[in-house]
Amino acid sequence: MRQLSCDKEIIYLNTDFSKLHQIVPEILERDVFYIIDESVYLLHSSKFSLFKNVILVPPGEKTKSLSFVIKIVDQLLTLNANRKSFLIGIGGGVICDLTGFVSSIYMRGIDFGFIPTTLLAMTDASIGGKNGVNLNTIKNIIGVINDPKFIFIDYSFLNTLPNKDWLNGFAEIIKHACISSNNLFDFLENNANIFRSYDSCKNSLEFDQLVFDSISIKLDFVKSDKTELGRRKFLNFGHTFGHAIESKYSLTHGESISLGIVFANHIANKLNILSYKEMEKVKNILSSYLLPVDISAFNKESLVDLIYNDKKSFNDKIDLIFINKIGSSLIHNIKIKDIF
Ligand SMILES: NC(=O)c1ccc[n+]([C@@H]2O[C@H](COP(=O)([O-])OP(=O)(O)OC[C@H]3O[C@@H](n4cnc5c(N)ncnc54)[C@H](O)[C@@H]3O)[C@@H](O)[C@H]2O)c1
Repeated sequence: MRQLSCDKEIIYLNTDFSKLHQIVPEILERDVFYIIDESVYLLHSSKFSLFKNVILVPPGEKTKSLSFVIKIVDQLLTLNANRKSFLIGIGGGVICDLTGFVSSIYMRGIDFGFIPTTLLAMTDASIGGKNGVNLNTIKNIIGVINDPKFIFIDYSFLNTLPNKDWLNGFAEIIKHACISSNNLFDFLENNANIFRSYDSCKNSLEFDQLVFDSISIKLDFVKSDKTELGRRKFLNFGHTFGHAIESKYSLTHGESISLGIVFANHIANKLNILSYKEMEKVKNILSSYLLPVDISAFNKESLVDLIYNDKKSFNDKIDLIFINKIGSSLIHNIKIKDIF
């Protein structure tokens, strides 16, 4: 087991779910309530056999909504959760966002922790304290920044993760490499063969290193700029277009971010910020992790319309995050109508 920390949250890496109460003793004295992704609960039922106060939530992005927030609050009241209770979210990024948000508003805020069960949630979504839900098609438009007490990462959950969801995690890991680490980018290129499925990299030092590096990069940006006034914005690389794509098309978060990265690089290349060679290098690595890269079929005008709803837009302008080479990012303020 390895440990990392950021403000008040502790991240336990490569740990064992059966030791949760030993490793995080503070929950022993608390009434704990579990918000669990229904699929994860069924696939790992033996892990949860002794759990009480379980609230099951259907899988999928639609669950990240105010109507589910209200349903969960209702169940917490029925189960007599109080201000000293502790919420633990067990699932992918959807469950982490939802649990963090509910915990932050229930009785004006109660403590919470995450047990992420997808690669994307382990390496990105559970880290950094952003907890939001969607409204209609607008992603994460209602939310808070509030840290969990702990993030408990047990790789054994990944044994049941479908390969498509596994590969989705690489969109955010590749994003981390693009914005700040040429070394991580090389590492991803050199190990694509083993990282393409969990089966071929589990128990390897390379996989443990990959998770550690991705989390460390995210922490580095978050620690210095919790409320996203400055360099935390770089983590939004690929997300302006990615969120627009995710809200309009039936694509997963990882797939949308992959396409969002390609869009951002395409514009950066047009503006002479990024070379063609580097742009192609990023496209190739996304392809080698079987993520979508073909942006030719997307209607640019309708994506631009959606970008006006983005949290980062202001006075018809938006801060777009570009890379000028792999491992180096910058902010470019641009009129939304001039993007394409
Ligand atoms: N808060 C943040 O900083 C942040 C950062 C990145 C992404 N996100 C959010 O995270 C979400 C995407 O996360 P995700 O890709 O984990 O999606 P997800 O939570 O929808 O999980 C993807 C799928 O995997 C299934 N699943 C989860 N764990 C499993 C397991 N161990 N075995 C089998 N199936 C399993 C789920 O049921 C679901 O069908 C998006 O809503 C995105 O906006 C948030």
